[in-house]
Amino acid sequence: PAGTTERTRGEPAVGGVPLTEVASRFGTPVYVLDEQEVRNRCRTYRLAFPDADVRYAAKAFLCRAMAHWVAEEGLGMDVCSAGELEVAVAAGVPPERIVLHGNAKSPADLDAALRLGVGRIVIDSPSEIARLAAAVGPEGRQKVMVRVVPGVGAGGHEKIRTGTDDQKFGLSLTDGHAQHAVARILDQPRLTLTGLHCHLGSQITTVKPYLAAVRRMVGLMARIREQHGLVLPELDLGGGHGIAYRPGEAALDVTALARRVRAELAGSCAAAGLPVPRLIIEPGRAIAGPAGVVLYRVLAVKRTAGTVFVAVDGGMSDNPRPALYGARYAPRLVGRAGAADPALMTVVGRHCEAGDVLAPDVVLPGDVHPGDLLAVPVAGAYHLSMASGYNMVGRPPVVAVHEGRARLLVRRESLDDIRGRDVGL
Ligand code: LLP
Repeated sequence: PAGTTERTRGEPAVGGVPLTEVASRFGTPVYVLDEQEVRNRCRTYRLAFPDADVRYAAKAFLCRAMAHWVAEEGLGMDVCSAGELEVAVAAGVPPERIVLHGNAKSPADLDAALRLGVGRIVIDSPSEIARLAAAVGPEGRQKVMVRVVPGVGAGGHEKIRTGTDDQKFGLSLTDGHAQHAVARILDQPRLTLTGLHCHLGSQITTVKPYLAAVRRMVGLMARIREQHGLVLPELDLGGGHGIAYRPGEAALDVTALARRVRAELAGSCAAAGLPVPRLIIEPGRAIAGPAGVVLYRVLAVKRTAGTVFVAVDGGMSDNPRPALYGARYAPRLVGRAGAADPALMTVVGRHCEAGDVLAPDVVLPGDVHPGDLLAVPVAGAYHLSMASGYNMVGRPPVVAVHEGRARLLVRRESLDDIRGRDVGL
């Protein structure tokens, strides 16, 4: 991952730019994004899945540059709002390669999708079918997929598991809702059903759940053919590919995933007498996460009876993941070598609550002091995209680093931005 081993002029660096340089030029907190790492990760997917459509899940991280890189590398995109869609299209992602998701798509989301001509809209609930057909209009036609709950639970935390019947997304495979939705879509002349979709969860580190999902989904495809005489040409297995946040942690092996999914799909389809559908995958975290590093300045160090608290100038507003999911990170000191023995500390943010803990029980040099710079690797996914306006501290900027150069992609949210939105009295 970016920010873990690379050095430039003897200093920890990303994309050939020392992290201290980024911090002094752009201030802290700052998200640093390694363009080459993003591109390499896209290429890994394209190589592993040469005959599949890879659609980057924009919810992990999106700005125009990111959309541009991903599109240049031949990926499409998964969006779940008019906002994500507009940014993707503005950056040049071909609308035909975009898929729109969402369990509660607003009229504005559907309007934007139809106006811009997205390739697929994924139906998530029965009421959406007639609503979408009406929005398409008498002359139009829209390709759709059905989001199926395959009954396969997986993922790094309860809040990001979506493959089982006890959560809000999709239509159940076990109770017949998915099949019912398929029948209703086939009754709509303005909608063309191209296939089925499922998303098991996020931060999944083993291949097995995907294989179980393939078997279930092919089983449903076989039943649809029996019932309607229809062979669906596409199968979207969603994203969820897990990454390592700390040294020694396991990540999902994308090449093994590709090989084993392909084999399972071929076997299941052969057994069902179905042709092999075109595969679609939607990785988000695995493309953006390891390409990002966030830099913080230490503002205070407090030695209490139980713990050493290292307080930095960011926190749960720029990274809510530890508070939401108990996510763990491995921050490290950059810009100087520690002069004291490493000790156990807790890195906390600047926000007004005790739960604003960025990294509990991490080892840092014992002489960490205000003014030091901390780098937290693997900060490229679900950090800025989930950042909040809590305590009006302003969202951090995004700086791209590439071949020894740093450039601003997203500027820091300023006090003027915050004041500007406050229009009443
Ligand atoms: N496709 C669909 C339909 C999804 O809902 C998601 C993620 C993805 C693809 C991409 O999943 P990925 O490859 O990034 O795991 N905020 C949480 C993660 C939520 C994921 C939501 N859906 C976190 O920070 O861990």
